[in-house]
Amino acid sequence: MRTGILTISDRGVRGERPDTSGPLIAEIVQQALGASVVAQEIVPDDRPTISARLAAWADSGQMDLILTTGGTGFAPRDVTPEATRAVFDREAPGLAEAMRAASLLKTPHAMLSRGVCGLRGRTLIVNLPGSPRAVRENLEVILPVLPHAIDLLRDSPDSEQGHTLPQ
Ligand code: MTE
Repeated sequence: MRTGILTISDRGVRGERPDTSGPLIAEIVQQALGASVVAQEIVPDDRPTISARLAAWADSGQMDLILTTGGTGFAPRDVTPEATRAVFDREAPGLAEAMRAASLLKTPHAMLSRGVCGLRGRTLIVNLPGSPRAVRENLEVILPVLPHAIDLLRDSPDSEQGHTLPQ
């Protein structure tokens, strides 16, 4: 599973805050899915910049999955969902619904994430919140379905087998 990781943070870009969430995502997907991280970057909370990076990554044909972290909340500069939705061909609301539902069992603040998920070509794009804790708690919800999701996107002949979840 070829994965791109985009950290969205003004302060991260300026070097005022170390990016711990991007490297954490890399560690989790490598360990849990055997994924290869083919690109990892930090961009500011700027709508055109985020959209351009997501579109370029998806259209490169080099990524099955793009995970973003940060910019999903209510602060005026939190524009990740709008920038992400702008590049979707098709939305995949079930992933975002599942992450918020599971997260609500851990913290009511889960309601404050506006993250979206969807498809551009054969790439799945997922918004995760910014904090390392939120990254871990949200990612663990969707990890079990990601292999089958990517199989379906590739239109793989084996995709029917994926309907059974690993135990
Ligand atoms: N989801 C989980 N599972 N755990 C968390 O700690 N933090 C919430 C929410 N989702 C959180 C979570 C908080 S406090 C906010 S403000 C929103 O995600 C948006 O975070 P972001 O602006 O860093 O993207």
